[in-house]
Amino acid sequence: MLQSLEIELTKTKKQQPPAEQLGFGNYYTDHMFIMNYEDGKGWNTPRIVPYQPIVLDPAAKVFHYGQTIFEGLKAYKTDDGRVLLFRPHKNIQRMNRSNERLSVPELIIDDAIEALKQLLAVDQNWIPTAPGTSLYIRPFIIATQPQLGVAPSTHYQFIIIMSPVGAYYTEGVNPVKIFVESEYVRSVKGGVGEAKTAGNYAAGLKAQEIAKEKGYSQVLWLDGVHRKYIEEVGSMNVFFKINGIVHTPALNGSILDGVTRNSIIQLLNHWNITVEERPITIEELYEANRKGELEEAFGTGTAAVISPIGELNWQGEVLVINEGRTGELSKKLYDTLTGIQMGKIADPFGWMVEA
Ligand code: COI
Repeated sequence: MLQSLEIELTKTKKQQPPAEQLGFGNYYTDHMFIMNYEDGKGWNTPRIVPYQPIVLDPAAKVFHYGQTIFEGLKAYKTDDGRVLLFRPHKNIQRMNRSNERLSVPELIIDDAIEALKQLLAVDQNWIPTAPGTSLYIRPFIIATQPQLGVAPSTHYQFIIIMSPVGAYYTEGVNPVKIFVESEYVRSVKGGVGEAKTAGNYAAGLKAQEIAKEKGYSQVLWLDGVHRKYIEEVGSMNVFFKINGIVHTPALNGSILDGVTRNSIIQLLNHWNITVEERPITIEELYEANRKGELEEAFGTGTAAVISPIGELNWQGEVLVINEGRTGELSKKLYDTLTGIQMGKIADPFGWMVEA
């Protein structure tokens, strides 16, 4: 169906910001991709148009019932000018799992990948190349039917926008301080925690705001039932190195199945470092620290890549990890993953896809 892709190029190219000014999600490229969906007609009318506001009816279901899905992935430009996407199929497959959960029609995976490549071809001059930068790609789907009954929409739009980015956290790859959230929860099993949908993030804002006021960058989410099992950190999956073994919460239906999480597990396996995916309690983490066994902690995500954790605060008890410094393993993982992504070191896993 993407054979019928129409491309309208902008007449007024934007000025591109210098690398040091990028931050995260502040600038957008010259073009965007849009495709419509209508019950009975399927996905149709794919087009690349100049980046612009979208016009929606105020009754569009996305505004009222939150029927919306998003993804995040990155593109890189290598020294020899190739454009590489990191594991794009994983993101589109996850998008379809999220779609399924939110009663949104599935995408045709090959069409969505082709859309990414076509948009990248048009805006590839926007891919920054300075160390620590990349082009963040945000595909998303919104329910557009103007109808207030609570039922799945009959109409949708699939849109892709792209943003040149630097580090997600102002700390960059320096350790972040994390507040362990005891009052609010992010999600529960059977809910939408493993879907990448807007409501999960909206539900987390309150706790994040409170943590910020206390001087912490993000919150660590505990499970919604027992309030003791570690789930995620902010918008990242989380790993702990305890006595030489790396532990990460097992996927349990309320944790996002992160593409970076999966890649880190593969890298660690490749290096013969044992990884245990299992339920981890916050008490046992503090206990491991008391015994001097907690060596490193870090979050993983597309936006942040690897974000070392230097400090936790759980109900007022402060736990400093690795003296607040970036651990050796966190650093090696960051360097290896970004090296593979930027085409600077070999990709033994076949992760990178040429656009
Ligand atoms: C990502 O890492 O792509 C995320 O989903 C984080 C985002 C919400 C900024």
